[in-house]
Amino acid sequence: MDNKQWCLSGHRVYLVALNDSHISRYIKLSDDPELVSTMGWRPFGVDEKGRFLQTLQMLSIPCYNDGQFLAFSIISVGEDKPIGYVSLTGIDEDKSKAELGIAIMEKDYRGHGYGTEALRLALRYGFEDLGLALIGLTVFPFNQRATKAYEKAGFRRRGLLPKSWRLPTGEYVDMVLMEITREQWAQYHKPTVTISL
Ligand SMILES: CC(C)(COP(=O)(O)OP(=O)(O)OC[C@H]1O[C@@H](n2cnc3c(N)ncnc32)[C@H](O)[C@@H]1OP(=O)(O)O)[C@@H](O)C(=O)NCCC(=O)NCCS
Repeated sequence: MDNKQWCLSGHRVYLVALNDSHISRYIKLSDDPELVSTMGWRPFGVDEKGRFLQTLQMLSIPCYNDGQFLAFSIISVGEDKPIGYVSLTGIDEDKSKAELGIAIMEKDYRGHGYGTEALRLALRYGFEDLGLALIGLTVFPFNQRATKAYEKAGFRRRGLLPKSWRLPTGEYVDMVLMEITREQWAQYHKPTVTISL
């Protein structure tokens, strides 16, 4: 199937449904030390597609509910290369809220604006297409690059969730909670009107 028939498109990336071949590729990249530290996961083996998907579906915000899970691959425009994923999980039936997760799995593609654009596309989908009221996420306090990308996409820090994430070592660590409401998103992405005289 031609991915571009049903994708969410930006300038640098487009989003398509996460598929089996994307997962195989991402699993191979999952032992990158930056991913291990920022995602707080144990690297995945080639036969651990199930655990990879379960990890993407895990909710980290205590007051969010279980619900539908949607995952997209982030594809670079031009090369059509799968470089990472962005997901929405815990989409509850009344569409009140969902939790977002993201990783640029290909390390050479980090720090070039791909993540921020993928976040904006996922937010647009969540608020405009799904009609969500609130999208939240958690991030490790040390993860400055992710925090900056989230702020650029419109998320705001809501507070600290103490000892809320269990690392593979068994240690519990603090997470920063960030959220954005539909109203904030609409305000943030309000089209500018140019009046020519
Ligand atoms: C977090 C992530 C999705 C961001 O995507 P990205 O494409 O790398 O980031 P972008 O290039 O879009 O934007 C990052 C912003 O942070 C800034 N930045 C980069 N490193 C930084 C640092 N150490 N401290 C502060 N800001 C930093 C960049 O300058 C950029 O801002 P600018 O455009 O105003 O200059 C990506 O880096 C990633 O997947 N990292 C590993 C996994 C991860 O951390 N996932 C999130 C877990 S909560």
